Amino acid sequence: MTLTTEPATEPVARPFPTRGHTARLPWPFPDDLTAFRYSVNVEPARVVRRTAAGEWGAHIVDLGGEEYGAIMAERRRILDADPTRVRVMPGMEPACWDLLVYYLRDLAASYPHVMELEESVAPAGDRFHWRNHALGTDQVFVLGDAATLPCDPLTFLGREVPDDLLLVKERDGRLHFDAGLVTFAAAWSVSFDVGMSMDEIHQPVPGLTRAGVTARAEQFLRRLPADQVYRRVNWTLSASGSRKLDVSLEELPEWGTDIPALVRDEDWGRLQLRIEVEHFIRLPMTGAVTFNIRTHMTSLEEIRQVPAWRDQLAQVVLELPEDVAAYKGFLDHRGPAMAWLTRPTGVAGATGPDGRTAS
Ligand code: HEM
Repeated sequence: MTLTTEPATEPVARPFPTRGHTARLPWPFPDDLTAFRYSVNVEPARVVRRTAAGEWGAHIVDLGGEEYGAIMAERRRILDADPTRVRVMPGMEPACWDLLVYYLRDLAASYPHVMELEESVAPAGDRFHWRNHALGTDQVFVLGDAATLPCDPLTFLGREVPDDLLLVKERDGRLHFDAGLVTFAAAWSVSFDVGMSMDEIHQPVPGLTRAGVTARAEQFLRRLPADQVYRRVNWTLSASGSRKLDVSLEELPEWGTDIPALVRDEDWGRLQLRIEVEHFIRLPMTGAVTFNIRTHMTSLEEIRQVPAWRDQLAQVVLELPEDVAAYKGFLDHRGPAMAWLTRPTGVAGATGPDGRTAS
């Protein structure tokens, strides 16, 4: 990973995507997968996975190489403009501190040349000194003392890492999504979903609860041990055609016309595969469970450069049941988009009504 180590007062925006982008991409499908169905597809985290273009997965937080500055500039812009992206239910403040300390320790261990955390026990409480040389952060704080941070602990962490941060706690015998900082939601809203149970959250997902996936997911989270970290990969074709990470419901007026325009222009190369790597961690002090989401995007144009990915994506997308394709938002245009993807490069050809290339 290449990261600048010069201190900077503001995150630096760099051209996006960068050269290493495809090589670091968490391709969401196992090599032999030809048909995708929803399942509790969890696996141990911090395990490197090789892909047809490179590898990913060594750390819990993927800073994103040269893209880190650009992603964090976007994250901070959204948080400054819209404070409602951070929602903390009463009683969740200790879990937010727990999350902050867990992540800062993990970051310092994963990226020791860029991030440092010093810890000491003082009469006034546990004292931490956090330095992030890539973003220029230098902050001393006391655990549990909000006055020692420039903002609440969840927001402080959210301004350092590219992941959306979600916390789940047991309440009334069920797991509830009770705190979150979310700037890159895929067509949902943290303000709408916060406080909901797992069943309520997943109600819009076709067949998920009926097939028992939601119940098995809740069971998995309840049994999650404190010393093991798991992850899961989720995917969709983006609700926006350009490389916009923020396609939350809050921003619907900004991206709602992107796909109709892309379909009208048959600009399929710009359509994005949106990949979410989600980490499940039982936090040591409070027992709250994380559901932190790191979002990656890559265009069909980029995917076309990797033949194994090109062929697998087309197969999976075209085979997907209609209700799931409709929920993911691409039922109407998956045919022509996948025909474009698999068309031999250099061959000009119109797409037929079934989405196949007319020669
Ligand atoms: C192992 C655990 C989990 C599994 C297997 C799971 C599964 C899923 C699946 C299959 C979808 C549909 C995604 C798509 O097709 O693009 C989904 C959506 C979603 N999940 Fe989960 N989920 C899990 C845990 C959680 C947790 C803990 C939360 C919240 C803290 C959560 C929040 C959401 C949200 C907000 C959506 C979007 C729903 C919408 O469209 O309104 N999930 N989940």
